[in-house]
Amino acid sequence: MIPKRHTFAPLAALVLSLNLACTPKEQSTPEPIKAAVVFDTQQTMSELMLWVIDPAADTIWDSVSWISNEKGTKANAPKTEEDWKALKIQASILVESANLLMLEGRAKDQGVWMQQARKFGLEARKNLKAIEEKNVDQLFEIGGDLDQACESCHLKYANYK
Ligand code: HEC
Repeated sequence: MIPKRHTFAPLAALVLSLNLACTPKEQSTPEPIKAAVVFDTQQTMSELMLWVIDPAADTIWDSVSWISNEKGTKANAPKTEEDWKALKIQASILVESANLLMLEGRAKDQGVWMQQARKFGLEARKNLKAIEEKNVDQLFEIGGDLDQACESCHLKYANYK
């Protein structure tokens, strides 16, 4: 038994020395350079609303309506693949806009503002889902909820409905 142990000893020593040889090499690997995160938030809140959020929401709200006359009720709704794709783009803008509202430099506080922005994002997501499913009834039904999400933030932060 004893001689056997001795034959293993050099191997163990070799493994150990290999480990030691590797360690300093790993430590000298330079840290990856991290780009500084700088958000461009120069667009004012008003501009973000007027040029990004409001037009996107309007396109979605205007996309579905019912016109009633003596001949009956006719749906005005997206029809072609192109129509749906155009709406999907606008709903995606809204989903991402919720994130933009939460950026440092935009968020008015870390509490209620974040909740309002999140709620808005969830409503926008529901719109995107209805559009992906081409569900006209659903899209019509949830339009009011999206509007509600806009208004409740405005009531608190903008004096604007
Ligand atoms: C998380 C808060 C928040 C949400 C959600 C929000 N807004 Fe706003 N909105 C504001 C604030 C704050 C202002 C006031 C900006 C200012 O005047 O400085 C504003 C202003 C506006 C204005 C007026 C801009 C102007 O200067 O005339 C419009 C239009 C608008 N929002 C549309 C919308 C629509 C449409 C939605 C939803 C689809 C929405 N907003 C969701 C916070 C929000």
